[in-house]
Amino acid sequence: MNVTELFDHVSGTSRVERITIRRPDDFHVHLRDGAMLEAVLPFTAAQFVRGVIMPNLVPPVTSVAMARGYRERILKARPDGSDFQPLMTCYLTDAADRDEIERGFRDGVWVAAKLYPAGATTNAHFGVTDIPALAPVFERMETIGMPVLIHGESTDPDVDIFDREAAFMEQSLLPLLKRHPGLKIVIEHVTTAETADIVRAHVSRAAGTITPHHLVINRSSIFQGGLRPHLYCLPVAKRERHRLALRKAATSGEPCFFIGTDTAPHRRTAKEAECCSAGIFGGATALQTYLQVFDEECALDRFEAFASVNGARFYGLELNGGTITLERRESPVLAAVAVEDTEVVVFQGGQTLPWSVGEVTR
Ligand code: NCD
Ligand code: ZN
Repeated sequence: MNVTELFDHVSGTSRVERITIRRPDDFHVHLRDGAMLEAVLPFTAAQFVRGVIMPNLVPPVTSVAMARGYRERILKARPDGSDFQPLMTCYLTDAADRDEIERGFRDGVWVAAKLYPAGATTNAHFGVTDIPALAPVFERMETIGMPVLIHGESTDPDVDIFDREAAFMEQSLLPLLKRHPGLKIVIEHVTTAETADIVRAHVSRAAGTITPHHLVINRSSIFQGGLRPHLYCLPVAKRERHRLALRKAATSGEPCFFIGTDTAPHRRTAKEAECCSAGIFGGATALQTYLQVFDEECALDRFEAFASVNGARFYGLELNGGTITLERRESPVLAAVAVEDTEVVVFQGGQTLPWSVGEVTR
């Protein structure tokens, strides 16, 4: 990591103007398929070398053959000259086949399996209805060292939506950690202080991804001056105390926390609807937003660990070569990305952000 500081003679302090880090990875990306894939992939590929690709297509990516096919479509959709590498995942259902899962892992087709409690989020209706019943699958994953990535929210309609993550952790995650002491688990998009502490308490084999949006919005933001559909995602943003705890976790340098943007594009028509789809398209502004948070928290020296080291280490991947430079240079963010006859609204789109992405070297 390399930082360029400028000394300000008036205030007598110096300020970082430019930061160059090892190229980063995004450990939680929704790229979708077809026209949407074509429209959003360039933004992720411009910032990240590798992306862990979420399998919640319709139908979901449940077989080695489907993952291979989807991987090919992503590679084909890359902009010219891009070296972006999709890391595929397998969508777990009640019918998950441990031999198929092992085969895909050993053949290097997928790096992890994704567990959605059935109905928990977008395209999770094929998900798992009985987590303990998947014990044979988890035992196999323990044996081969394959991580499970968990969307940690209770699907009990009687549980308040703001308590669903907490309920899942108590009722499902802690028992799962106990039943499978060798299972590697990523708790995706951590949104509460207590979940961050659970990650820390299981640091030898658990990790947590943190999104850019959960570092900058809280639950009140969703209702700021009216209902803001483009700030609605799952897990939904929580109280301010949780946002502050997430900022602390992300910027702490602890090896168990790393980038997972959960960039989840939906068409404007699906967001500005009677029943708004869950998901925030954060892929176009991810690094700028994360870096702003690290800057505000006086933790720029720990940015590279969060962005480019911790996740790769957890997954047992080599660190990327090459660098990306971010500069303290205000730049306006595009408001939306065109997709067919509609568009996807960009998180923080239309605003001016203090940091901009500069040169990338390979
Ligand atoms: C994601 C999506 O749209 O696929 N939505 C979201 O709100 N994050 C699914 C998910 O990760 O929950
Ligand atoms: Zn997601």
